[in-house]
Amino acid sequence: PSLEKEFLPMYFGWFLSKRSSEILRKAGQAFLDELASLKAFKKESKYFASAIEDPKIKIALTSYFVKRPPGVLHCTTKYTDFGKAAGAEEYAQQEAVKASYGKGFTLSISALFITTKTVGARVELSEQQLLLWPGDADKILPTDNLPKGSRAHITLGCANGVEAVQTGLDLLEFVKLEKAGNKGDEVGEIGGGKLLYFDNGMWMLTLSKKIDVKAIFSGYYG
Ligand code: 2AM
Repeated sequence: PSLEKEFLPMYFGWFLSKRSSEILRKAGQAFLDELASLKAFKKESKYFASAIEDPKIKIALTSYFVKRPPGVLHCTTKYTDFGKAAGAEEYAQQEAVKASYGKGFTLSISALFITTKTVGARVELSEQQLLLWPGDADKILPTDNLPKGSRAHITLGCANGVEAVQTGLDLLEFVKLEKAGNKGDEVGEIGGGKLLYFDNGMWMLTLSKKIDVKAIFSGYYG
């Protein structure tokens, strides 16, 4: 009876169209380029030491985040590890998941962020999209109690030796700071929105105009 178990994907998620992937990649690239040229960023560039070619000139953030997802970008909902992950079967059998499989969605990107480990896009999920969000994803520690969907993101890049799973954990760190009342230091307006600094090499650009991306809810089988 558990034949299906063998056929669970590595993960479920929203897979962006080629065009939306290109738009978001470009926005991420522009963010990195602009950030790297800012005085405020250079002052804090010790966190990205290996990216500094010449501290007076330019920090090569693009080559710092060397591991970039090939092909189309995605927003993971549930990492099922081919059925081996906790809660994999339960997730796959939910009505919302089955009904949405292969369907088109529009995801809203509200911010771009970097840490010393990852660069990503923050996704703001609608009520309907939250139905596809697993109950156990929004935690770093078992005791964390953050709003559902806090972790929703699209990985744009990782530093050398960092795995993609880190991007969501990094976003949760931002959300934990926000929850603790830390709104970040307002560095100023840059192209696209308001730049915030949270210390320790954690930067977030809250977009003045959200980026809508088209995506299909599906599974990735490797
Ligand atoms: P990402 O969603 O942050 O990009 C395949 O490894 C994909 O599944 C990656 O895109 C990755 O991160 C995500 N992933 C890997 N391990 C994970 C885990 N333990 N929990 C949640 N997502 C994971």
